[in-house]
Amino acid sequence: MSAESTPSPSLADYYAEQAAQAPDNLDAFWLPFTANKAFKARPRLLASASGMYYTDIEGRQILDACAGLWCVNAGHARPRIVEAIRQQVGTLDFAPNFAMASPLPFKLAERLAELAPVDLNHVFFTNSGSESVDSAMKIALAYHRVRGQGQRTRFIGREKAYHGVGFGGISVGGLPNNRKWFGPGLPGVDHLRHTLDLERNAFSKGLPVHGVEWAEELERLITLHDASTIAAVIIEPISGSAGVILPPQGYLQRIRQLCDKHGVLLIFDEVITGFGRVGKAFASQRFGVTPDLMTTAKGLTNGCVPMGAVLVSDGIFETFMQGPDNVIDLFHGYTYSGHPLACAAALATLDTYAEENLFEKAIELGDYWQAGLHSLKGLPHVVDVRNFGLIGAVEFAPRPDAHPGARGFEAFTRAFNEGQMLTRITGDVLALSPPLIVEKAHIDRIFNTLAEIIPKLD
Ligand SMILES: Cc1ncc(COP(=O)(O)O)c(C=O)c1O
Repeated sequence: MSAESTPSPSLADYYAEQAAQAPDNLDAFWLPFTANKAFKARPRLLASASGMYYTDIEGRQILDACAGLWCVNAGHARPRIVEAIRQQVGTLDFAPNFAMASPLPFKLAERLAELAPVDLNHVFFTNSGSESVDSAMKIALAYHRVRGQGQRTRFIGREKAYHGVGFGGISVGGLPNNRKWFGPGLPGVDHLRHTLDLERNAFSKGLPVHGVEWAEELERLITLHDASTIAAVIIEPISGSAGVILPPQGYLQRIRQLCDKHGVLLIFDEVITGFGRVGKAFASQRFGVTPDLMTTAKGLTNGCVPMGAVLVSDGIFETFMQGPDNVIDLFHGYTYSGHPLACAAALATLDTYAEENLFEKAIELGDYWQAGLHSLKGLPHVVDVRNFGLIGAVEFAPRPDAHPGARGFEAFTRAFNEGQMLTRITGDVLALSPPLIVEKAHIDRIFNTLAEIIPKLD
């Protein structure tokens, strides 16, 4: 390599130092989804990461019990991925993909189509889960229009769903705080009820037994609006961000049947369930239910470079290919769709998953994980624990004299400060989703830490 393309040691040291040292001023960065004032009064700053651990700027090792933000499925700083990114940036740093392309997105799309459920053989690249969701919704609308059913404009989402933060995603999403500040959202959206039912299903091991009947609500909504007006139903096979909500046994199968019956597209949002989180490449395969469109992101690049992808069925894709040869088939795309750095990271990530059989880990370790999690039953304030694959959640009763989420936030900060462990909270639910390289000793540490801190919660 020429001197021009390699940073000199002093330059490399300079950038490494910047990443590891506390900033002089915390004011300018507005953190997303954060109580900024509280955070800046007591910041938690991570400086480096390797394998199952972060190191914070004070040099403490922090066990990563949530794969960063549900994305670092192969663990941190994996050599193949690091090397692929390093190599790629010096070879082709950017290439436009509008009427032009580099070889990488084709290679990656083919790899994804091989991994995906049958029929989902076409890939539209985005840069995040939110963009994947909005792209999938636009593809669904345009698909109906291309085949002469442009009146199918409605979407059906679910209460408590999280589909990212774009206007499409918040409209079909069902988390009140993510919606109420931002106006009325897309018109023509309705919601199914969520499937969380603590009265009947608390402390379920794996998929809950009760609740398949909630799927029948879809028939009711389709009757109300008439099938001819509905474009698609969007569902997370397991919702993570809303506090780990599992589909009751048979629920997803019934939703699929009803969509087929009425010609409504089914979109699975697999942004967190994709790439091995539940023991197969995608939850769709674990549950034996194939959607028409599937949204992904996060684990696609092991969280190293932002990237998302919408996987699209043959039938939908072919419908778009019926027009004249020289007319754009889909008026949609991002400057960074199929970015070379992201593609290189994704290809190396898929290699790492395959080489280490990481997609099977959630099944191999599933029982051990479940036993550890359910050992927390009976501790103070714990009203539910739930699990599937390498996903877990502990729900606390809200603290009666405080705002909802106060007890959950205390659990999160105690886990970080006292237990040196990174978890994720939504309200009073503490969610766990470790990198898939997790071992039994890490699982022991996760649940021992929680067993120590939970009795101290106010
Ligand atoms: C199911 C689901 N969809 C979409 C998103 C949004 O992804 P992003 O934050 O990359 O935009 C998330 C993020 O957690 C998610 O869990």
